[in-house]
Parts: sequence; C-alpha cells; structure tokens
Amino acid sequence: MRKKISFAGPSITQKEIDYVIDGVKNGFYETFDQHKIKLEKAVAEYLGRRYALATHTGTLAMHLSNAALGLKKGDEVICTDFSWVATAYSIVYTGALPVFVDIDPDTWCIDPEKIRKAITKRTKAIMLVHSFGIPADMDEIMSIAGEFNLKVVEDACPALGSLYKGKKVGSFGDSGCFSFHGAKIAATGEGGMFTTDNEELYNKAILLAEMGRTDSKCVFWSDFVGYQYTMSNLTASLGLAQVERIEELVAIKRRIFNWYDEGLKDVAGIKLIREKEGMRANYCYPSILLENSIVTEREDLIKTLKEENIHARPAFPRMSTMPALKQRYKNPVAAQVEKRGISLPSAANLNSDDIAFVCDMLKKVIRYKRP
Ligand SMILES: Cc1ncc(COP(=O)(O)O)c(C=O)c1O
Repeated sequence: MRKKISFAGPSITQKEIDYVIDGVKNGFYETFDQHKIKLEKAVAEYLGRRYALATHTGTLAMHLSNAALGLKKGDEVICTDFSWVATAYSIVYTGALPVFVDIDPDTWCIDPEKIRKAITKRTKAIMLVHSFGIPADMDEIMSIAGEFNLKVVEDACPALGSLYKGKKVGSFGDSGCFSFHGAKIAATGEGGMFTTDNEELYNKAILLAEMGRTDSKCVFWSDFVGYQYTMSNLTASLGLAQVERIEELVAIKRRIFNWYDEGLKDVAGIKLIREKEGMRANYCYPSILLENSIVTEREDLIKTLKEENIHARPAFPRMSTMPALKQRYKNPVAAQVEKRGISLPSAANLNSDDIAFVCDMLKKVIRYKRP
C-alpha cells in the first residue's frame, strides 16, 4: 500500500529529543518544574500575554478559564455551534448554559451578527473558536462584548501561531486557551495552556488547578474544591521545544495549505476555507466544503480516500445536536458544513507529492450534477 497520508502529526526534530532528554535528566528534585515554568513563559511572551498556566489538556484550560470567570448555573454563554464538543462541555462543567449560534460560511468561525441576536439578560460571556486555525472576527466580537459587558473566552486550541491583524489569536479575550494534543500544530500528545492578562483571574485559575490549595491554616490546607489540572514537567519539556519552533511549524502548515490551494484552485465545487484579508491562519487543518454542484456524498469521498491510505476527517457535527446539550437554534450554515465539510490531511511529514496525490484523488472521485 502507498505511504500513509496522515491527517495530522507533529514535526519532531533533534531539538525536541534533546529537550525531552533534558526533562528526564534534570526535571526532578529542586528543578522539578523548570520546564513547565519555561514553557509558560515562552507562550506568554510569544502571545504578548501577561500570564500562562500549563494544563493536562486544552479542555481543562478552558474549564479553568470558565470556572475562574465565575460562570455558574443560571448564566448563559453564547457559543459557536461548530467545534469539538470540548468547547461546549467546558461551559457545561460550570453549570452555565451554552447558547449555540451559527458560523460565518467563509471562516467557519462564530458569526458576530448571530451573537447580537442571542444576547439575553442572562448572557455573561461569549465563547468563540478560531476554527481549524482561521482567526475569528475579533474586532466585532470584542466590540459586542464591550457594548454588553460580556466576558470573552477564546478557544484557540488549534490556533497557536494564527494572527488577527498582526496580533496573536488567544490574546484578545479575558482568556485564551490552547491545546498541545498530538494532532495540534505544536504537540505534546496531551497538553493545554490557559492564558490571560488579568492577575486576579490567573491567581484564581492557579488555585483551581492545584486543588484549591492555599496552605492558609497549615501545609496541605485547601479552602475550596479545586482540580488537579497542572501539566507535568516532562510534557512541558517537549512543549517548550515545539513552542520555540512555532514560526517554523506555522510555515510548514502554510506551505501545505498553498499546495492544496494550487492543486484545487481550478476544481469546480470545492471551496477551500481560507484566511480573510489581513489575517494569518496557521492552517492547522486545511478544510474544504463540497458545494451543491458536487453530488458525491462526503462519507463516500472520505471512504474512498481511506482506501488509498489518505486520512481525511469529516467536519464537526453541531454541538447543539448532542444529547447532553439543548438544541436552541437551527444554525443552517453549521448544518451545511456538518454534512459537506472535510478537513484534509496536513501532517508535518507530508510533501508536495503527497498533497498532489490527495488533490488528484479528490478530482478523480467527485461527480457533478448533470447540467
Ligand atoms: C476547537 C477545539 N477545542 C478544544 C479542543 C480540546 O483540546 P484537548 O484535546 O487538548 O483537550 C480541541 C482539540 O482537541 C479543539 O480542536
């Protein structure tokens, strides 16, 4: 069989190997947290944020954010309907209710106009996702948040290295959260990062992430129910190497995107989701929409690609349709993407021939409506 064309996978160099060896050798005893501290500093500096706190996963970073913001039962959070369900569950964990709104058909990120329409007296926050590394419309979102006094949480889990008008995504909202899952642009297997500029929020997040431990009455004293969410130092040693290479990793993803752009530009009915003017997407997962002129079923297409050892992924089902979450709106754009969206392989080990092969296979498989 032909080489596996993986959906995602990191770029691991000697630097990562060296840093992990250093983590194993020197990441215990009195320097037990040095790599974690360095990773948090590196992310904060890269983003231009004041504080960063490393966690086991991106989901937990978002839970910390939402818990530290004081979200609770009776509150509503306006949330994109198009994401991995972790986004919504990180709201649900606090008792607050996610109110799902539709997405912009060009970016697959939350549509600011739809946010306005969903605001009620109970709305406390907006939770957006920089979907697949494409920046959401932050000017508009921040302006709505200012107008209605709402908190903003950026799910930037797939978006480390993406820029909105020159500013790093994840550095706009009250908090910005990232993932270092093995399929992300900077990968540690599992890992996450909570970031903020707000000292009070950061201090609350630290307490929550460390079991509410304050030592106020004696050693091991905890003043409220917390969680054990902090990243291991060894994981951080790998993360540090990846974050120090982030510009290189973004360049790899953008090069892959450009190969897709080149290979698919003359193919009718395939819409490649791209950054808007003035943005820099990290193109963590280059994605396409099969337009109505194409009759091939998305599932059939993915299956045929898999037979060629090409691993593509269907777009997310709407979170609002999941059993644990209440359906609030119809969200037709997200519904269309759910049925007809595909994320294409963009593992760091792919070359231009691999991407040309994916494009050729796509062209071979798709069928059009008869005129
Ligand atoms: C948009 C989005 N949100 C949240 C997450 C959760 O991150 P993690 O898997 O690190 O918990 C992911 C990645 O899996 C994601 O893509």
